[in-house]
Amino acid sequence: MGELKEEDVLKALSKVMEPDMGKDIISLGLVSNVTINENSISFKVSTKNAAMHSRKRMEEACQFAIERAVGANYNVNVEVKGLKKSETAQKVLPNIKNIIAVVSGKGGVGKSTIASNIAVGLGKKGYKVGVVDADIYGPSVPMMFNCQHYKPMSKQVDNKQFIVPAENYGVKLLSIGFFAELDQAVVWRGPMAAKALHQLFFDAHWEELDYLIIDTPPGTGDVHLSIVQSLPLTGVVVVTTPQNVAVADAKKAVSMFKMDNINVPVLGIVENMSWFSPAELPDNKYFLFGDNGGKNLSDSLGIPLLGQIPLIQSVRESGDAGRPAVMQQNTPVQKYYLDLCDQLIKKVNCRNDELNETKVVEVEYGQPKCSS
Ligand SMILES: Nc1ncnc2c1ncn2[C@@H]1O[C@H](COP(=O)(O)OP(=O)(O)OP(=O)(O)O)[C@@H](O)[C@H]1O
Ligand SMILES: [Mg+2]
Repeated sequence: MGELKEEDVLKALSKVMEPDMGKDIISLGLVSNVTINENSISFKVSTKNAAMHSRKRMEEACQFAIERAVGANYNVNVEVKGLKKSETAQKVLPNIKNIIAVVSGKGGVGKSTIASNIAVGLGKKGYKVGVVDADIYGPSVPMMFNCQHYKPMSKQVDNKQFIVPAENYGVKLLSIGFFAELDQAVVWRGPMAAKALHQLFFDAHWEELDYLIIDTPPGTGDVHLSIVQSLPLTGVVVVTTPQNVAVADAKKAVSMFKMDNINVPVLGIVENMSWFSPAELPDNKYFLFGDNGGKNLSDSLGIPLLGQIPLIQSVRESGDAGRPAVMQQNTPVQKYYLDLCDQLIKKVNCRNDELNETKVVEVEYGQPKCSS
């Protein structure tokens, strides 16, 4: 074998996957400072999970890959360091600026409705927006966007096949529901669901996006874990109704996202179905599900309240008709959702400013201080 070159080392290392980022360490640009001497090879690798066992595993994977490619005649010195969260965000899905998951504790509180209206609202404000419907149990975003019959096509770019998202109202959309017949009950099991979801994010032709909004199933299960582990989330938005049982579940969801090993910022709480005002008595508010439950939760946890959206018949109707209510020009309902988008944009910008300003890892992982 001739003299060993840097490109041989890089080629060998291109077989090593970054386990949390879904690509190999060379494509992700995680390898640097390669030096080759007569009987040693040294380089640095960054990895997403800075825990000792993960760094050790990465070191061993690199050594194994090199030994397999060039034989065991070299000492392989690998220096592994953890990536900062902002660095991870730049490397994974670099064309997507912000990824926001809409979550709740309790089911049926309005996640999909809020996710759809936020997405279309952000699009109306001039942002490039995509939606991933990650609800493996009851995908409902396709219907809310009137594209439930969309059959995903693939497109070849640079020798790689990509899934082409559906597009309606200026928003790109992929749903786990596109991959099963409409009336067929789908039960995606754990690893299968995780793999399918992974493809919706990483193998889709999203191009440039300012916001990718993820609609999730209720609760805090495998799908949420898989999302927080594989994606650099900007944060989550927690939806609740004012009702005690929904608020209690929302609180549990907040605690999960704040857990040490998850640590995803909660950008804010949305209280949905806050009150009802009949058309003939528009100034009267009836608090059918209780009064200010989401607002009180926001106060007690110190997490911003992004908005209170009343129960409005046209919200339900337009959801069923596949035309999100935020498109009803110059109506109070449109204003509720556009104001919600404004609050969200503010929190996201504030969060991103924090990430750019700080160089201290501890601060990056904490709850954003954007509570004004
Ligand atoms: N503000 C509102 N006014 C009137 N109807 C609403 C409002 N928000 C949501 N709905 C309706 O409530 C129902 C549940 O909403 P949605 O499907 O968005 O909840 P979800 O949290 O996504 O449910 P799941 O947990 O099953 O995914 C839908 O029929 C929707 O049209
Ligand atoms: Mg839903």
